[in-house]
Amino acid sequence: MSINVAVIGCGGMGRGHLNGYQADPRARIVGVADLSEEAARKAASDYGVPFHTTDINALLDLPGLQAVSVVTPNHTHIDVTPMAAARGIHTLCEKPLALSVEDARKMIDAASRTKAILAVGHVLRFAPPVAEVFRMARSGELGRVVNSYVLRMGTASAFLALSWGREARTLGGLVRTLNCHEIDVLRWISGEITHVGAEMAHLMVEGIDYEDVAWMTFTFEGGALGLIGQNIVHYLGNHYYEVMGTEATVRFRTSGPITVAGRDRKSVERPTSDKVAVHEQIRCFLDSVEAGQIVAPLADGMEGLKGLAVIDAAYRSAETGMKERVVW
Ligand SMILES: NC(=O)c1ccc[n+]([C@@H]2O[C@H](COP(=O)([O-])OP(=O)(O)OC[C@H]3O[C@@H](n4cnc5c(N)ncnc54)[C@H](O)[C@@H]3O)[C@@H](O)[C@H]2O)c1
Repeated sequence: MSINVAVIGCGGMGRGHLNGYQADPRARIVGVADLSEEAARKAASDYGVPFHTTDINALLDLPGLQAVSVVTPNHTHIDVTPMAAARGIHTLCEKPLALSVEDARKMIDAASRTKAILAVGHVLRFAPPVAEVFRMARSGELGRVVNSYVLRMGTASAFLALSWGREARTLGGLVRTLNCHEIDVLRWISGEITHVGAEMAHLMVEGIDYEDVAWMTFTFEGGALGLIGQNIVHYLGNHYYEVMGTEATVRFRTSGPITVAGRDRKSVERPTSDKVAVHEQIRCFLDSVEAGQIVAPLADGMEGLKGLAVIDAAYRSAETGMKERVVW
């Protein structure tokens, strides 16, 4: 069965979604929209899409449209996504779902009114090493996860070059735009986060009005502890995860092999697949459209909202200097 899909927002990541739809024989890309006529026209021409527009309503009114990707700037998700949901069109909205928990809730409510699927682009669930560590956690191979951390540091963040990427008002801040990924991974593997302590500062990067360095510590339900160290001031770059369970420790990146050590402390490298995470996410979204409900491990709106609640707690903690409870 073919599924009529469209993409709203034809920038860097919009093209990632178009590639994903093009790679799945079930998807028929019937239209693209972008506020920039040139971006919409070029995407339509590059991907052989029969309809392009700068008018989102015109796109959403295409007869037979079943599903859309919303790949517009972070602050616009709250306006664009409910337009699709109101028409009962299933939506895969890029991360972060919104810039606040309140807006995320409005988006979830809009989708539930028409029973449309609302999925969030927490794409790292589909990154082969992350999926393998999740499998190890669920199968018992890791034992009880007691500690986990991520370091994500570098200076080459693509959003710094985007028109909307230098203001907290449009980007949501460094932690909100980037660490929504890592927080989703840690929650997915280790369970809910109940408390957050954070320090954030703007120390080095010029022309932005948000933090360029952040440290966050997490308490998980059941008592496990975690940490994220994030910055955009590290010229060498560094990005890796470690998860420690009672039976095994794993070290991994978002692609490539994972390193595992058990109680004997011998380190073993295990290969993972070279599947493209964005394509796998689109495939799972199409599975969900066919099923009429979210198919695991695709993140639904509530997962997006819970991750945002952790982020809100982190920003509150950075202000108050106190450990903050996660509330949604
Ligand atoms: N999952 C990931 O790994 C990942 C990576 C990059 C970006 N993203 C997310 O994808 C989204 C887009 O990021 P990007 O890097 O592609 O940005 P971009 O600036 O390259 O592209 C955004 C496009 O949306 C268009 N646009 C702006 N407002 C619009 C509106 N209201 N309606 C229709 N089109 C509009 C712009 O003209 C632009 O072409 C963001 O939410 C971002 O956080 C996710």
